[in-house]
This record gives sequence, C-alpha cells and structure tokens, in this order.
Amino acid sequence: MKYRIFFVGLISLLLQSAGLANTLQEAFSEHFLMGTVWHGQPVEGHKKNHFLEKEKAITAIEFNTITAENCMKPAALQPEEGAFSFAESDAMMAYAQAQDLVVVGHTLVWKNATPDWFFLDKHGAQVSREVLITRLKTHIRTVVEHYRGRIEYWDVVNEAIDTRWLPKQKRFEAFYKPTPWLEIIGPEYIEIAYRAAHEADPSVKLLYNDYGLHNEAKLDFTLAMIADLKSRGVQIYGLGYQGHLFIDQPALVEIERVLSKAQQAQIPLHITELDVSVLPNAWKHRAASVEDRFALAAEFNPYADGVPEEILALQAKRYSELFKLLVKYSDNVERVTFWGVWDGNSWRDYRPMLGRTDYPLLIGRNFERKPAYAAVLQVVAQQEKKD
Ligand code: G3I
Repeated sequence: MKYRIFFVGLISLLLQSAGLANTLQEAFSEHFLMGTVWHGQPVEGHKKNHFLEKEKAITAIEFNTITAENCMKPAALQPEEGAFSFAESDAMMAYAQAQDLVVVGHTLVWKNATPDWFFLDKHGAQVSREVLITRLKTHIRTVVEHYRGRIEYWDVVNEAIDTRWLPKQKRFEAFYKPTPWLEIIGPEYIEIAYRAAHEADPSVKLLYNDYGLHNEAKLDFTLAMIADLKSRGVQIYGLGYQGHLFIDQPALVEIERVLSKAQQAQIPLHITELDVSVLPNAWKHRAASVEDRFALAAEFNPYADGVPEEILALQAKRYSELFKLLVKYSDNVERVTFWGVWDGNSWRDYRPMLGRTDYPLLIGRNFERKPAYAAVLQVVAQQEKKD
C-alpha cells in the first residue's frame, strides 16, 4: 500500500514537471466533462469484486461524470411488471452525490436488457399497441420521476437504428431496427418515449444514444430523425456516439464526420461509451460455440498472457489522435465518457466473445496509468503551448 502511494505521488510529480495536468477531469476542464461508468456495489466478502472499491477511488479522482453501466436498464429497474427495484441505482446516486458527479441515466428504452414481460400478456401472447404504450410510459414516468432533479442527462432511446448493405447500389441503407417496440408500436415509440421523459422531468436533458455512427447512412438517418423530432416540438437535446473503437477502425475521417455533421446540425454531441479495443474485431463470431471459441482463441485472443508494449504504443497514438479531434470540436462536444474505469473490468472481455483479455481503457490491469493515459493528457498540454 505504502509503495503504491509513493508510486502515485511520484507519477504526479513527473506529470507536473512535464507541464501536464494531474487528472483527466482537470486536463479537460475547459473542454468537456470526463466520465466513466458505475459497475456496481462491492458485495461484502465477495472476492470477485473487491476491486470495485479501487474503481470508486479512481472515479472520484479522475472523472466528473458517471453513467450507470447496467443498473438503470429496464431489466434492473423493473424485472417484473410494477416491481420497481431502485436499490443499486440509489446506491450509485448516493455515491455520485457525495463525489459531486454529474449523473447520466442509461437507458430507458432498448431492445436488450428489457424483460419479455413488457411485450407479452399473461398467456404469453403479444400485447396490443395500447398496452405496450401504457407500459412504456409507466416505466419512463416512474424511473424519471424517481430521479427528478438529480440526473442531468438521460439516454432515452438506445440503439434504435440499423444498416444494411445494398450490393447493387453499392451503398448502405439505414432503417429503424426491428425490435418488439417497433413491431408493436411503430416508429412513434421513439417520440412517445421522449415526450414521456420530458413530462416526468422537464429539466433533464434527453439524449439519443447509438453505435456505428461513422457509417454515413446511419449518421444521416440519425441526425434527420433528431431534426424531425425537434421540428415537431419533441424535447430531444443531443446525440450520444458510443465510441466502441478499435486501434485501426473506424478511420479517423469517419469519426471526424460524426463530430462535424453534429456540429453543423447544432446538435450537442456526447461520446458516451468510449473504449479502444486492442483485439481483432470478433463481432462476426458473436454466436460462436465454446469449442469454436477455443479454436479461434489464437486469432481473437492473442494477449491473454500480457499485451506487448508496441500494441500499447499504437493504442496511445489512436487515443491521442481521437482526443485531438475531440478538442477541435469541443465547442459542440459536451462529454466524453469511458465505458469502464480500468482494463480489469470491461465488457470487452465477455462480448462479443466470452473469455477474452482486452486492454481497452486508459488505466491498466494493475491500476497503472497506461501510455494512452499520458498521450491523452499530452494533447491538452500541446494545445496550450500552441495557444
Ligand atoms: O458480470 C459478469 C461477468 O463477470 C461475466 O464474465 C459475464 C459473462 O457473460 O457476465 C457478466 O454479467 C453480464 C452483466 O451485464 C454484467 O453485470 C451479462 O452477461 C451481460 O449480459 C450484461 O452485459 C452488459 C450489456 O450492456 C448488456 O446489458 C454489459 O455489462 C454492458 O457493458 C453493456 O453495455 C452496452 C450499453 O448498455 C449499450 N451500448 C453497448 C454496450 C456494450 O455492449
């Protein structure tokens, strides 16, 4: 313990002498909020999550905003109809309040993490449009009212848009993702959701959150949807670009297009779930069986025993390039939230393929600040030199 305190102190001294800020939130205080997620409460005596205390200590130092990774999803808040359960999310709110963190609620309407009961009657048949609208409004009203005045932003609708490749026309086409929400209510479920959230807390800022916006068809469709909702008086405030990136994809110009088109459209942008995986993209194998995964491990899980320094250097370069862009567009970028605190607790290890070892964040598996951490702080230091 003593050694760790000494080590952290030494790093702080070195950063100061290099003219760098001491923490992420301090470095970007002139630009945007810096955030991370709430992974959950440590359970007394539970070996697996003793590190949650460390996560909380790091969160309090490095970040000024926090998002619920899982505890505010419908499956967590209303596992059965009418049986709302706020214990975990209330614990997160208490922590956030004590640490003076801006809170982002995630998420009210999604295809995943939503129990089947929403869509079924007691005989297991699909419910009518009217019943589902009532359930949607009740869920949103109850949850948003519970946290009225204490949550700054809500991800209201999450991941409602998909794309397909049109081979003859050699282009992508975007469309509303087929989900029970769309099938039973139609695309109006989106408008209904935003109106219900605004009614429940008129001061909360409402976001639409999605991944893959570097696909231009998806980006244009999304911006048009937001513009259309706004033109009809729906209180939708901004766009969340998740930012689950890889070292080599998507291309920087495609990311810049998201930032610049959102700015042109005057829609505030949030980077809501940032991480940069160092592993090969395995989404096409997401349904792989255990045996298949074993066979694929050499290709898709190459750093199970440790990550080479040159890979961490590439990741640092990628983060640096990304943050240069974010600073360039910081007039319209309000927040950058990482989808995790440190590499040892990230969804990347279990999705899309269970049992991998990834290193996607700025803080490593021994709670050390990685090369990417220094590279990100360096972006602000260089910017200040130019000014
Ligand atoms: O905690 C255990 C983990 O230790 C174990 O290795 C893993 C094996 O499956 O299970 C874990 O439980 C998982 C749980 O959340 C964590 O509490 C569940 O399987 C898993 O289904 C669930 O995953 C979450 C996922 O959303 C689905 O709700 C991830 O943690 C969470 O990071 C992820 O977050 C989403 C955003 O909400 C929306 N955008 C994409 C993003 C990443 O998928």
